[in-house]
Amino acid sequence: MHSVRNFFCGDSPDLAKRGARVIMACRDVAKAETAKKEIIEDSGNQNIIVHKLDLSDTRSIKEFAELINNEERQVNILINNAGVMMCPYSKTADGFEMQFGVNHLGHFLLTYLLIDLIKRSTPARIVNVASTAHRWGSIRLDDINSERRYDPVKAYGQSKLANILCTRSLAKRLQGTGVTVYSLHPGVVRSDLWRHLSTPIQVAVKVFRPFTKTSVQGAQTSIYCAVAPELEKESGGYYSDCKPARCTRAASDDEMAQKLWELSCQMLGITWD
Ligand SMILES: NC(=O)c1ccc[n+]([C@@H]2O[C@H](COP(=O)([O-])OP(=O)(O)OC[C@H]3O[C@@H](n4cnc5c(N)ncnc54)[C@H](OP(=O)(O)O)[C@@H]3O)[C@@H](O)[C@H]2O)c1
Repeated sequence: MHSVRNFFCGDSPDLAKRGARVIMACRDVAKAETAKKEIIEDSGNQNIIVHKLDLSDTRSIKEFAELINNEERQVNILINNAGVMMCPYSKTADGFEMQFGVNHLGHFLLTYLLIDLIKRSTPARIVNVASTAHRWGSIRLDDINSERRYDPVKAYGQSKLANILCTRSLAKRLQGTGVTVYSLHPGVVRSDLWRHLSTPIQVAVKVFRPFTKTSVQGAQTSIYCAVAPELEKESGGYYSDCKPARCTRAASDDEMAQKLWELSCQMLGITWD
């Protein structure tokens, strides 16, 4: 089992313990190297690799994908996990609104650039870490970069809705290839994701600590989607707490999923039918 996952959380140690070659794709290589040491100590698996990947820059994504395509014989599991939540308005190197650019377009491009290798590595799985926050947003085709109006909560919701819609679209395109695709909500996890929220909200998250998950607990649904044998024949679904979950009607809108797919390709200058 060879896996690429973009950033360190509870699932890398788990996959390492299962004997996977784990490629950690991270923007902060020094931080990733520290995490790598911990994973090796904890799992006894030396086969842990760190590579630089900045999802807010298509040049970095292309460089990373080229490296993987040249160096790796197979990628059985791709976990698209990295994310940014409710940051102040900013743009990626390519001019995309940051949350849509990193959480959706960055992963979309990465998946596109690795898809041939993944198809040659079957059975293979792609896991997209979405969120129940997909309920907070809609796909604003006429202002996808929130240039006219930026609401950080809605922009985060839009990016997570895009994760679920693209999972559905990709599953259809990969039918019969041996590659299956899943999206999921990890739970409310005590992590650095909350870094851009105001102090009162961060305090509220601490108050609700008993109802939140550690990063190891938060990784369980990603691991489930990545390895559970019972999901072998499933593709395109949305999961939470290691079982199928309900998403909104907007997240099951295949017409919108197609429009989003076309817009994403157009924004990235790629052709992916
Ligand atoms: N925490 C929750 O309650 C929750 C709930 C629902 C969904 N999720 C989803 O779960 C996923 C993981 O989030 P988390 O809670 O573990 O948050 P986190 O601790 O903030 O981890 C997010 C990771 O994404 C990385 N990242 C951000 N921007 C990046 C970029 N431009 N290029 C490469 N990496 C980048 C961060 O890198 P640095 O380490 O360098 O900052 C960080 O390691 C996200 O997709 C999030 O939307 C989380």
